[in-house]
Amino acid sequence: MDSEKTILHAKNLHKSYGNVNAIQGIDFAIDQSGVVAILGQNGAGKTTLIQCALGLEKTTSGELKTLGHLPGNLSAKQQIGVILQDADLPDLLTAREQIILFASYYPNPFSVEEVIELCNLRDFVDKRYKKLSGGQKRRVQFALAVIGDPKLIFLDEPTTGLDIEARRNLWQVIRGFAAKGKTIVLTTHYLEEADALADRIIVMNSGKIVADATPEDIHNQVRGSAVRCQTQLTEAQLRALTGVESVKIAGRFSELRCSDVNAALTALLASDPVITDLTVTQPKLEDIFTQLSQTGEAS
Ligand SMILES: Nc1ncnc2c1ncn2[C@@H]1O[C@H](COP(=O)(O)OP(=O)(O)OP(=O)(O)O)[C@@H](O)[C@H]1O
Ligand SMILES: [Mg+2]
Repeated sequence: MDSEKTILHAKNLHKSYGNVNAIQGIDFAIDQSGVVAILGQNGAGKTTLIQCALGLEKTTSGELKTLGHLPGNLSAKQQIGVILQDADLPDLLTAREQIILFASYYPNPFSVEEVIELCNLRDFVDKRYKKLSGGQKRRVQFALAVIGDPKLIFLDEPTTGLDIEARRNLWQVIRGFAAKGKTIVLTTHYLEEADALADRIIVMNSGKIVADATPEDIHNQVRGSAVRCQTQLTEAQLRALTGVESVKIAGRFSELRCSDVNAALTALLASDPVITDLTVTQPKLEDIFTQLSQTGEAS
């Protein structure tokens, strides 16, 4: 294996806490810059994976390497930044003071001013941490994760609890770092977040990887999107369209369950260019996990 290129590799990785099998034999390789989102419900094993990669928890068996090294290796650690799920920081220090402190841990950090700029902290950088809002605190934590100019950044649920504006602000900052050639591994409960940010989505369920693909491919694997519209087409004509699984007529509206929503919409618009009141609904996240878990176990 070319260790220069290895960013994060797992091979038949297992981690148990007593009789809880938090990670049950997972394999993946991340060798590129960009954003990888790990999506999974509570208890799926996302945090455990990050803790193992950081060397904070010992793996039970299998292989795990970060930047070509075993977890916890000092030279790897100096190239890794992190926001832990339950991160908290000293209340009485200002954001600037914490950034200066963290910068001293790394051999080649960004300048403090540069990070304040990159992470949009200017408005509150000299306030004590305890006076900041949840979104501001998360941005400070992000600044601490990146101050060392790391190659690899782990963000464990970086936007949980943030409002949509704060979330979008942080997404923008995360994208900026991916554009600088960094690899960002983030966990999330939000499919929307994975869609908006990730080049690749790994879906975990009960300690296993049940899907590992681009956001587009993940959506294509998931069935159950629905299209609703008013159309002149008959029920039989609608049912014959590519990508349509079933059709229900509800008053003036036709409701189409789709196996491939993109193909169905293309076929629908080609057959009836004057459809009105068109809406598309995506399957719920719970349905996605259930479906991917079933197909993941079957494959
Ligand atoms: N320190 C620990 N001791 C014992 N069991 C643990 C410990 N940490 C995690 N677990 C168990 O391991 C499993 C995976 O937990 P983990 O925290 O990795 O899930 P997660 O995907 O991060 O969930 P969440 O979305 O809730 O953060 C769970 O069953 C959890 O109870
Ligand atoms: Mg977690």
